[in-house]
Parts: sequence; structure tokens; C-alpha cells
Amino acid sequence: VIKQNKRLMNLSPYKVSDRFKNKNIKKLDWNECNLPLSGEIKSLFQKEFDKINLTEYPDINNMMLIELLANYCNLKSKNIEIFNGSDSALQNIFSCFVDDDVTVLVYDPNYTQIDSYIQLQTSKIIRSSIQNVFTQPWYDFSLIENADVIYISNPNNPTGYLLSPSVIATLVDENPDKLFIIDEAYYEFCKQSCAHLAATYDNIVVTRTFSKAFSLASARLGYICTGEKNIETINKIRNKKEVNSYAQHFGAVILKNVDLFDKRVSVVNRNKSFFINEIKKLQIEFCDSFSNFVLIRLNNHKKVLKELSDNNILVRDRSNIPGLENCLRITIDTLQNMEHVLEILSKND
Ligand SMILES: Cc1ncc(COP(=O)(O)O)c(C=O)c1O
Repeated sequence: VIKQNKRLMNLSPYKVSDRFKNKNIKKLDWNECNLPLSGEIKSLFQKEFDKINLTEYPDINNMMLIELLANYCNLKSKNIEIFNGSDSALQNIFSCFVDDDVTVLVYDPNYTQIDSYIQLQTSKIIRSSIQNVFTQPWYDFSLIENADVIYISNPNNPTGYLLSPSVIATLVDENPDKLFIIDEAYYEFCKQSCAHLAATYDNIVVTRTFSKAFSLASARLGYICTGEKNIETINKIRNKKEVNSYAQHFGAVILKNVDLFDKRVSVVNRNKSFFINEIKKLQIEFCDSFSNFVLIRLNNHKKVLKELSDNNILVRDRSNIPGLENCLRITIDTLQNMEHVLEILSKND
């Protein structure tokens, strides 16, 4: 028998989604920004494509991209590092800062992808349920005392709730020996951030991505904002070749044209307000969202899921998460697609 890491035995494999089986399916399940790209954005990407050298390894030290990011985050370049998506950033962070003796605190419901990264490093995990998820979410911060590392997705996936950055700033300030990992994958949809704390505090890492508002999920690009020493630590294991040339080039194009992507964010936020207004009329329970998705609770979520699927619309079933029984998470998409979802919801009211 081939031996494997003993912690792996307790992990279950990630369930493969059917989103890749049907080419015509509308993907409202993974919170990308799938609005059609404008001609202007497309041509910027196409021009950049010709500059990419296929045969060479990517730049392992892309200072131009790092500086653009530093400028975007209002930090210094020494506070930024890039990764193959923020998932890779998170995996590297947990690998570097968590081992057998380290206790990690996570708040549920949560971004589930990180569970395996943590479980591979430690069995000391505190899972705390966020209270009143649909009304006034409440996090039990007294548990921080018993933890070494605290992960918070902010805005939270799957609820869309945002803890005020000033609340997190106080926690970071009061707990200098504990590391706070703040996942800001959806930052652009709310523009509220903890990234500035990386300039003064060593005990915070903010992770961000190009996969959501920046509409670049295919290329895989993420980054962190943190203290220089933490970056040095992570760079002991980070694979410097992991960010491919397409991601680096397209990432730079996006940062030089942020206004074009801001317009897409405005459209998503407008469509979200419309969607929320309509579900209020249908008296469907929902979480107020600072992200590009909305979590709703239905009486008949299975029937709705089936009908959405029959109409080629994929959303994320979150009903198996404790506390989220009968819940679906729906990515905000074009107005037309949101109207289609609403039509199905209203029939099943
Ligand atoms: C909270 C959160 N963090 C990280 C990610 C992953 O982002 P990336 O595509 O950069 O790996 C997601 C994607 O759904 C997410 O919801």
C-alpha cells in the first residue's frame, strides 16, 4: 500500500460541477463576471496577445505588474505578491503559517475551497457559525483568543455580508500575535477594504483576485497585500513560475484600464439592486449582498433548481451547508438573465 499524507485520508474530493458539460448553459454559479466584453476591452486583450512569447517561461519577477498593483492598492510594491489565482495565494499562506500546533478559526458559512488547504496542515480548527445570517449577521470574536490564524472572507462567500474594515482593523490591532487572513475576492463590488492595514501591521494578509470584477477567471491571477517579511516567508515555497504570461500581460492591461472594468461593476451592482427589489416583491428571503451574488432561501429550492437547470441556468445549491437549508446562491449576470431567473422564481412562489 502506498502511504499518503494521513490528513488526506479525512478529506473528500471536490465534487465536479456539470458546468462544463453543456456549452449553452448560463453560469450563474461561480461568481465570475460573465457580462459580454465590450469591443474596446476585447481589442485591448487581442493587441496584448501578440506581445506574449509562447515559448518562454513567464517573467518570474514582474515588477511592472507588481507596481501597477501597488498603485491600485495604494501600497508599496514590497507589500504585494502575485499568485496563480487567489486560491494559490491562500494555499501558500496556509502552508507557510499553519502546522500541527497552529489553531485556525473560520466562520461558517464560508468559502469551502480553503477547507482542504487548512485540513492538510492541522487538525486544530475552530468552526464558528455566524449567527442571524439573514438578518443581522453576528460573528463571535471572543473565539479569536483561542486561535492563532483567523480566516475571514469579506465580503463573505456565500452570504455577501461585509464586516466593516474598521471592525477588522480593531481586531488586527488588538491581536498582534495572531495572523488575520482577509479574503477580498469581491472587493471591487463594495470598494471597502483592509488592504491599507498591510502597510502598518505584520499580522494581516489580504488576498484579492482578477477572477471576479476584473473578468479574468480563465487566466488565473490573484495577489496578496501584506508585510514584506510575510512575502519573504511565502516566497520560500511559492513557485515563481506559477503566474503564466497571459495572466501577467492581461492583468497589466486591466490595471491600466480600470475604469472600463469599473463600468462592468456598475452594471452588475445595478442589476443586483434590480434583482433584490424584485425578490423583495416576491417575498423571498435573501441576504443583503456586498458582492456580485445573492443568497436566497426558498420553500421549494429543489424544484426551482430543476426548473432553472431545465432552462439552461446553473446556480449554486448551498442547501447542504448547515444553517443554509433550502438556499441557493445566484451570481448576478445580465439584466436579461436576471429577468429569466426571476420569471422562474415567481412561478414557483
Ligand atoms: C471568497 C473567495 N476567495 C477566493 C476565490 C478564488 O479566486 P481565484 O479565482 O482567484 O482563485 C473565490 C472564488 O469563488 C472566492 O469566492
